[in-house]
Parts: sequence; C-alpha cells; structure tokens
Amino acid sequence: MAKFERHVFICTNERDESAARPSCLPEGSKKLKGAFKDALKDAGLKNRVRANESGCLDQCEHGPVVVVYPDAVWYGFVKAKDVEEIVTEHLVHGRPVERLRLAEGCLNTEACPHRKGGKQK
Ligand code: FES
Ligand SMILES: [Zn+2]
Repeated sequence: MAKFERHVFICTNERDESAARPSCLPEGSKKLKGAFKDALKDAGLKNRVRANESGCLDQCEHGPVVVVYPDAVWYGFVKAKDVEEIVTEHLVHGRPVERLRLAEGCLNTEACPHRKGGKQK
C-alpha cells in the first residue's frame, strides 16, 4: 500500500468546564473524524490521506481545531458541515479553505484575541 501523503489531525481533547482553557470535544469535534473518513472515502483518498484524532494541539480557543500535515494548514471552529469542503477543495484540489483557516495572529501567540476572553465564533 502506498504511504499516506497527508494526515488530518482532529483535536478531541476534553477539559473540565472549570479549566482555564476551553477544549475541542465539547465544541463538537467528535463528529469530525467520521465525517472526514466518509468524505475521504467518497473522494477516493482513503489510502492517501488519513484522518486521526489527536490530543490537544494548543489552539484551544478555536475549537474544534483541525490541522493538515505536511501542509501545516490550521483550521478552527470546524463544523461537520465544513468537512466536505475541506476534503474537496484542500485535499483533492490543493486549495486550502481560507474562510476556515486560523489567522496567523491566532497561532501560538498570547496576542490571539480569542485568548483574551473574546467570544468564539
Ligand atoms: S483542546 Fe483542542 S487544541 Fe487544545
Ligand atoms: Zn484566536
């Protein structure tokens, strides 16, 4: 079997409600893995792109968070209804879905407005 060309990591970390940071599972990430698997199969990518659940990806204020490697394209606030578009546009045609990408100012920086108590979309 050919090697996987890409991996889609879907954070399914869950924190207690009282934790200092939010987490992706309560925001609905559990549904995403099955949705990615189905969409990848439908697109004929089952043997080339792998959808994996992951632990915390440290972008917790933007859940559900998904990252595609080796592209290093980060998506935030992903809903099951967005999965088909990510698969078709990004994983089939190589065009990341800009409307779902996390802004540079959100990645690994204290300056992220969501970390300062900004309301999540
Ligand atoms: S809990 Fe999902 S990125 Fe941290
Ligand atoms: Zn942010």
